[in-house]
Amino acid sequence: MALTPKPSDNFTFGLWTVGYNGTDPFGGPTRPPLDVVHVVEQLAELGAAGLTFHDDDLFAFGSTEAERRAEIDRLTQALADTGLRVPMITTNLFSAPVFKDGGFTSNDRAVRRFALRKVLRNLDLAAELGATTFVMWGGREGAEYDSAKDVRQALERYREGVNLLSQYVIDKGYDIRFAIEPKPNEPRGDILLPTLGHAIAFIDSLEHPELAGVNPEVGHEQMAGLNFAAGIAQALYHGKLFHIDLNGQRGIKYDQDLVFGHGDLHNAFALVDLLENGGPAGVPAYDGPRHFDYKPSRTEDESGIWDSVAANMSNYLMLKERAAAFRADPEVTAALAAARVPELATPTLAPGESYDDLLADSSAFEEFDSDAYFGGRGSGFVRLQQLATEHLLGAR
Ligand code: GCO
Ligand code: MN
Ligand code: MN
Repeated sequence: MALTPKPSDNFTFGLWTVGYNGTDPFGGPTRPPLDVVHVVEQLAELGAAGLTFHDDDLFAFGSTEAERRAEIDRLTQALADTGLRVPMITTNLFSAPVFKDGGFTSNDRAVRRFALRKVLRNLDLAAELGATTFVMWGGREGAEYDSAKDVRQALERYREGVNLLSQYVIDKGYDIRFAIEPKPNEPRGDILLPTLGHAIAFIDSLEHPELAGVNPEVGHEQMAGLNFAAGIAQALYHGKLFHIDLNGQRGIKYDQDLVFGHGDLHNAFALVDLLENGGPAGVPAYDGPRHFDYKPSRTEDESGIWDSVAANMSNYLMLKERAAAFRADPEVTAALAAARVPELATPTLAPGESYDDLLADSSAFEEFDSDAYFGGRGSGFVRLQQLATEHLLGAR
């Protein structure tokens, strides 16, 4: 049975997601444009908590200050009328032709200066609307040809850009943190900071690493053949999960942006289990917005947009319920113990034990009969995965 969300579930949607008109590289739009006020009303009606957007989603690129202000005011009124929030905003540094070789890392210095000005203006808007997360997705920051981009210089320019923006946020006293969104390719042949691991390493090089984290997207890591839930676990481990883009992807191909749960369902189950139950003592490991960055399919009319909005949230809630059942099942607890999963939390050395002590412990090595110890014993991981599958399918 479909589950109905509440604002306290903290589900948010990009204006560009529900607003996607179905255009693709092979054909034109299947749907007329949606007005932002209508989008806000529909999202509130369906139980979402917030809206996110790029500057150019709200007011067209090149708008006058008056046109820009008129759209911001219409949005602000709609938010006041519905109670929806804007917890995150982001900058479009990819649609205008001038950005075809990137924004922060374009070879052309004038383009880089223009890009920084566009982002600075958008930071003021984020502060005005109370958004505390500022996503940076650098889809055009990359290249098709190795000799066309000096990658080390490009990273240096990226770093210069993020350092400048961080200093601006500090000087203005804004309560804003940056979330870098990795993606391996599309639209560029190869994008800089292609995976969350690359992004976390880059963040370490910044002047204010504490102001930067990641906004990983399910499909983007899966486009690189990576395990999304495992990547999120590492982002959490480093304290860098500042935001998340939920959607669905089926294998290594173009960015599908399917509804969350319509791709790799097992991994979606593991992800929701991690986010909801992965903190100490089984509490949520992540408390930020559950943000959907998907595209309503090109085959659908407007009713398909709202069906897919509801499907994203319902799938998340169903997985949350299934993950809770999995964690509460005594058979699962026993299977976890049999598979020695909890034992990994025990440090390998005893408190205060040094490598000298370890070297002196003959039971650890000289007397350790690995064949006898192993004794042909299996790990029991398949049994565990089958229990997860039975919970996921509602068979338990
Ligand atoms: C994509 C990206 C974008 C970003 C968005 C926010 O693959 O197109 O996921 O949708 O999330 O630009 O910065
Ligand atoms: Mn995407
Ligand atoms: Mn995204």
